[in-house]
Amino acid sequence: MVPVRYTGAVSAIRINGKETARKKREEAAARAALLRERGIVPCLAVVLLGEDPASLSYVSAKERALEETGMAGRDIRLPAETSEEDLLALIAELNRDTTVHGILVQLPLPGHITGDRVITAIDPRKDVDGFHPVSVGNLVLGRPGFLPCTPHGVLVLLQELEIPLSGARTVVLGRSNLVGKPLANLLSRREVNATVTICHTGTRDLAAHTREADILIAAAGRAGLVTADMIKEGAVVIDVGVNRVPDSGMKRGYRLCGDVDFVPAAEKASYITPVPGGVGPMTIAMLMQNVIEAAEAQGAAG
Ligand code: GUN
Repeated sequence: MVPVRYTGAVSAIRINGKETARKKREEAAARAALLRERGIVPCLAVVLLGEDPASLSYVSAKERALEETGMAGRDIRLPAETSEEDLLALIAELNRDTTVHGILVQLPLPGHITGDRVITAIDPRKDVDGFHPVSVGNLVLGRPGFLPCTPHGVLVLLQELEIPLSGARTVVLGRSNLVGKPLANLLSRREVNATVTICHTGTRDLAAHTREADILIAAAGRAGLVTADMIKEGAVVIDVGVNRVPDSGMKRGYRLCGDVDFVPAAEKASYITPVPGGVGPMTIAMLMQNVIEAAEAQGAAG
């Protein structure tokens, strides 16, 4: 059992992701209203296979956000046994449907389906997750394109707080395709200009790297991985981890926590994101922005 403490003195400034996300969602809502005046209702198709509890909860949050932002959601729930062929046929249909501007297939997919094949089947113009190889290529090359929502949310959060990024020693903990890799690319873009180190399970003496970080971003998916002794005094700590830790004291039987041991870490950091309420809301806000951009581009293309 991972020791997670949520009480005690906290000296760091707690970053309120909900507040920044609300601001970004209001901007998206204003753009959605302009589109609706032109007869375009931005629409995201959300495809979920199976009933993984975490995925169900993410998908519901996305659908609520669409409604609140004045956009349409096409909620497509399929059994976990759906064949890859049927899923690819559905994506082909959604690609052709001019009333659908964005397509999101909730990950992870069941084991019998090749995620890469499914992601690649989505029309890049509707790839609001930013996972398609075309979007990834654009990101790496610094060209315009859909940015993946969580890495983009982290960047916007840091920028909104006016955290100096140029030249900042930044450690990204985790090298996933969804977060670590794109985030490292985004932060090292010339216009952001951070100095980025990616650490992962093969990193020797992890703490020696993290203790050098002005900005430490934990995206490893392991509760309690980052302890206070791994953090430089005054560092900015961004926790992307969302872990379900069993807790019999909670009605639902678990509690959500990040990768960072929050309370001791908050005594050392200057800024820190909580879990929940930090990066998570930003992910959804950036998704809303991508759907708007997809609808605007498809509207302009007629
Ligand atoms: N599963 C966890 N995060 C995400 C996400 O950002 N997009 C999709 N499609 N699936 C996810």
